[in-house]
Amino acid sequence: MQNRPRRNRKSKAIRGLVTETRLHTDHLIYPLFLVDGNGVKEEISSLPGNYRWSVDSVLSEIEECISLGISNFILFPKIDQSKKDKKGTHSYAGDNFYLRACAKIKMHFPEVTLISDVALDPYSIDGHDGIVENGKIQNDETLEILCKMSTAQADAGFDILGPSDMMDGRVGAMRGALDQNSFFDTSIMSYTAKYASAFYGPFRDALDSAPVESDDIPKDKKTYQMNPANKLESLIEAELDELEGADFLMVKPALHYLDIIHLLKESSNLPIAAYHVSGECAMLIAACQKGWLDYNTAMPEALLSIRRAGCDAIISYFAKDYAQLVQNRL
Ligand code: PBG
Repeated sequence: MQNRPRRNRKSKAIRGLVTETRLHTDHLIYPLFLVDGNGVKEEISSLPGNYRWSVDSVLSEIEECISLGISNFILFPKIDQSKKDKKGTHSYAGDNFYLRACAKIKMHFPEVTLISDVALDPYSIDGHDGIVENGKIQNDETLEILCKMSTAQADAGFDILGPSDMMDGRVGAMRGALDQNSFFDTSIMSYTAKYASAFYGPFRDALDSAPVESDDIPKDKKTYQMNPANKLESLIEAELDELEGADFLMVKPALHYLDIIHLLKESSNLPIAAYHVSGECAMLIAACQKGWLDYNTAMPEALLSIRRAGCDAIISYFAKDYAQLVQNRL
């Protein structure tokens, strides 16, 4: 035998020399669920180790993450049922706690990146990402709300806006609204290829944002989120987002869609983000709790796989645990 690939695996040091993919905490974005009130830290039962935080309690969590090397956070609001309506108007209301929370976090930690969520579902009485009329999700009417939400979020201090709604034309509409209001520096991380996935369950539990069960409300999001069978369609979405002014392209979910991450990385010069979603994390946590998998080896392997596929920025509920693991190894 001339070639014995095992020679390059014979010691930890040599394996270090030939390691092709590295995952640094710089690549990670940590999701945090926020709720109005004081002193709240409620665990999400379908996503153990993750909580709904009130702003006062999330500050120490963010401080701890910063000390572990995490500087990027994506925030999601759980909105009280009484504030929900057909058009999600509370999303841009002056007394929306989510907007105030952003300003407060930025005041304490100006150096961190805060990424928002732009979509109607946390605020929608119907539990959809757009306005529902006659059993249909209205695209163009929804854009108007998304634009108002975007300028309110930019005004609150969010660094990057994350449209997760999958309405057509929203990136261009948002960019226009932001620029018109002189928010030239506010970035857009577009959920470019967001699939109608079964893996969002724990997230919808966390925000109580699932589509409402009723005869005149679509029971799923298949008329706007992408068909999991489709790959080429992600290129159409990517091209549109680029033309409309997106700063990042995102693939969601991540682990079940590594081929899409790879495809977008190969076909775009924009940075690629991926959302390692709640259900993907929850299944690993559950298997570890049963003793079927080892968390400290399975979790980093899952994150590394997303990075190896070509992802630059990974949104994952494992971000903090990964950072802790790396720190303990030093
Ligand atoms: C909704 C939104 C969802 C997630 C992020 N934004 C759920 C959905 O589309 O129903 C899911 C994230 C996760 O599962 O971790 N705009």
